[in-house]
Amino acid sequence: MTDVWSQRADAFRDSPTHREGPDLDLLVEWCDPGHDVKVLDVATGGGHVARRLREEGCTVVTVDPAPGMAPDVVSRAEELPFEDGSFDVVTCRIAAHHFEDIRKAIAEIARVTQRLVVIEDNVFVDERVEEAERLRDPTHVRCYSEEEWKEMLVEAGLEVEQLEHFERQAARTLRAPPGRRGLARAGGDATCGRCSRPRAARRPR
Ligand SMILES: C[S@@+](CC[C@H](N)C(=O)[O-])C[C@H]1O[C@@H](n2cnc3c(N)ncnc32)[C@H](O)[C@@H]1O
Repeated sequence: MTDVWSQRADAFRDSPTHREGPDLDLLVEWCDPGHDVKVLDVATGGGHVARRLREEGCTVVTVDPAPGMAPDVVSRAEELPFEDGSFDVVTCRIAAHHFEDIRKAIAEIARVTQRLVVIEDNVFVDERVEEAERLRDPTHVRCYSEEEWKEMLVEAGLEVEQLEHFERQAARTLRAPPGRRGLARAGGDATCGRCSRPRAARRPR
């Protein structure tokens, strides 16, 4: 898996969908960025969240299992090599649908945040779309509905403060041999969620 992602690094650095957009703007705003804010960006990919947060004065550590993405730390979300409550904020944008063990990843994200988690991912449409996504991209594991997201975040001990839904282009036909229909991509509407660690559960540092 890691090699596949490393090969895609340049594409993700240049991708307009990842480099910019109202979803990225909102995610940055929801981090309450500033000079005293320490952030962990999980599955950093092309590093767009980290770049934007650094521009706002935050100290950002990036983590990704693909060395080609040039993260500060090479690791999967399911086993973050950081002490409990090491960061004020943990971000994770358009990546969780690639995690093999989503509950373990969310538990790790909740463990290493002191205060906030801001997470964005494509939302579940139906099983046919899931199957199409896995055919199109074998690294696709699963998208989750907003209800599933809420349940998993609460299970990890987080309080869901805000959710915002973003509509993306309805469908895009991918390149296919002449005379054959391409695999339609669902466009992948996304949801951005801001969660907090309940005050009583915040860890003293
Ligand atoms: C679509 S890119 C991320 C986009 C990026 N967050 C952004 O905002 O532009 C997906 C990333 O997830 C990473 N990834 C895949 N499986 C992972 C896992 N189990 N844990 C953490 N990251 C993973 C890949 O290496 C890849 O860099």
